[in-house]
Amino acid sequence: MNLVVVSNRVSRASANEPMTGGLAAALLPVVEKSGAIWVGSSGRVRDGAQKEPFAEIEALGAGALAMLDLPAAHYGGYYEGFANSALWPALHSRTDLICTSHDDYQSYREVNSFFARALLRFRKPDTAFWIQDYHFLALGAELRALGVTHPLGFFLHTPWPARDIFGGVPHHRELVEAMLAYDLIGFQTEGDRDNFLSYVDGDLGLDTTGGVVMSRYGVSRCAVFPIGIDPAKFAAHAAKAASHPDVSRLRRSLNGEKLAIGVDRVDYSKGLVNRLDAFDRMLTRQPQLKRSVSLLQIATLSRGTIEAYGDLQNQLAKLVSDINGRHGEVDWTPIRYLNKGFSQTVLAGLYRTAQVGLVTPLHDGMNLVAKEYVAAQNPVDPGVLVLSKYAGAANELDTALLVNPHDVDGMARTIATALSMPLLERRMRWEAMMAKLRAGTIQDWFADFVEALQQAHVVNDKTPVETLPVEPAVLWPVQSLGAGVGSRFH
Ligand code: F6P
Repeated sequence: MNLVVVSNRVSRASANEPMTGGLAAALLPVVEKSGAIWVGSSGRVRDGAQKEPFAEIEALGAGALAMLDLPAAHYGGYYEGFANSALWPALHSRTDLICTSHDDYQSYREVNSFFARALLRFRKPDTAFWIQDYHFLALGAELRALGVTHPLGFFLHTPWPARDIFGGVPHHRELVEAMLAYDLIGFQTEGDRDNFLSYVDGDLGLDTTGGVVMSRYGVSRCAVFPIGIDPAKFAAHAAKAASHPDVSRLRRSLNGEKLAIGVDRVDYSKGLVNRLDAFDRMLTRQPQLKRSVSLLQIATLSRGTIEAYGDLQNQLAKLVSDINGRHGEVDWTPIRYLNKGFSQTVLAGLYRTAQVGLVTPLHDGMNLVAKEYVAAQNPVDPGVLVLSKYAGAANELDTALLVNPHDVDGMARTIATALSMPLLERRMRWEAMMAKLRAGTIQDWFADFVEALQQAHVVNDKTPVETLPVEPAVLWPVQSLGAGVGSRFH
């Protein structure tokens, strides 16, 4: 089978370069190994891209990375508009932040259709397409409209909200109907899948028994595939990073003081304000903890042109400054707040230096930082994970200290509990979490989804793909992938 993986953001960073986004970082090593073609945005836009698609292709492990310049006229409406100002807030149950227009929706559909046409050149008789995330809810339907009968899988990295909340998205019905073009629709948790099926049942009136939906496209199977990490690799990074200058400088600067760490994109779904409030409250209620613990919050800026993100950046900068102003001393600062990214290797070293990992989103599909923090710990003296019960990871990492991120007092108490937890309890909790991480790695996730996609398509298959014309030359002049690797072409 030839696998084509599609995501908006792609990555070619090595473990020593700063990483961009959970999805791209997670996919990179498995896609590299699988020999798949990974197709995504180049991060550039071009006038006329729609008429004359342009891709840069380079080798990626055993496969290839194909990066498309996106149509300039539609990029803003697609990415900042419909994807991140309508779908993202709704998927994270923040319909109050939906701010979009019909033009944004048109641009979203245009970019989905643009990707579908671009993907045709990678189609071979035995190709399967695996589409990632909320940027491409309608891409499967666009492929079907172009006559593609190959296996089409979709995986959602974010949560799927309650039925009436998704109903707050303009054009919600068209979008979910379009999703049924996929043979297999994967979710992070049972709760996400159940919410989706409740929408399909309630709003579309379709039978969803056993997670199987029959629509005009045929059968779609809806299933749960919790994404994992490579825990052995992370542990190796953490051990190696101990001597990295950033990590050793941090350790020296702590002077024996304990450290709590948070690593997030600046996004309203991450619960950063509540977390900082909880740290503040802990220092206010238990002043004896001052000078014995500080917080390192790494907060990479993201989607800054969207008003809700710009406002949050300003709010956080002010909050950190207020807390440091109130609790700080001439030689002690409670919160180090950094708006920059770090490589996976350095991050693993920073996680291992911290006695407490704070992962407290208001809503999160999975949250791989939680898993990475656990994997990076020193087995003989592990730190404690404080984890929001609203992160998908809480389903597996149930021996973390689970918190309600809306209960600031409760979080303040739990952080203090984590700081004083005895070694035996820390080890027992950590070993239970590591066992879960080893039982569901990123390699398992990838292999399980691909196998389930093949099975779902066998059930669904009505037209043998071998009988189809392979390449519509009118759309793109054909050039073999091998010849294209490492070059740019039209
Ligand atoms: O599903 C979440 C996700 O797609 C992750 O890859 C990542 O955390 C984030 O969204 C990336 O967002 P962006 O590509 O807009 O920076």
